[in-house]
Amino acid sequence: MKKILIIALLSIFVYACSHKTKSSVSKSESATENASSMTMQAHADLYAASCVKCHKLVEPSKFTKEEWVGWLDKMAPKAKITDEQKANIYEYLSAHAKAE
Ligand code: HEC
Repeated sequence: MKKILIIALLSIFVYACSHKTKSSVSKSESATENASSMTMQAHADLYAASCVKCHKLVEPSKFTKEEWVGWLDKMAPKAKITDEQKANIYEYLSAHAKAE
């Protein structure tokens, strides 16, 4: 009796696991494309939230990547953001920066 119970539990467990794996694999495949644009959206939101306190948001296309590095170095302490947030904001700004 015990054995049957264990087998039953095991098969439920195995089924649950394989089921999960399958669905998460197909999900992550289709989500991969969205992931980078979702991340970019998060970076854009972070930029908007961190950098609009003292002045209007500056269009990313107003400066080149290089100029943005300079501005971020100057503004990061003002905005009191972490290095990671600064890097994320740079990621967004550089992706939409003025062509050099
Ligand atoms: C505590 C206030 C404050 C915060 C927060 C702030 N800034 Fe500024 N920002 C200023 C001030 C003051 C200036 C005026 C120019 C200067 O300091 O040279 C400025 C100017 C700028 C300029 C130049 C605009 C132009 O057209 O010449 C850019 C670009 C800029 N900030 C980007 C940012 C970014 C990106 C962030 C977020 C990380 C940010 N700022 C957050 C105060 C702030």
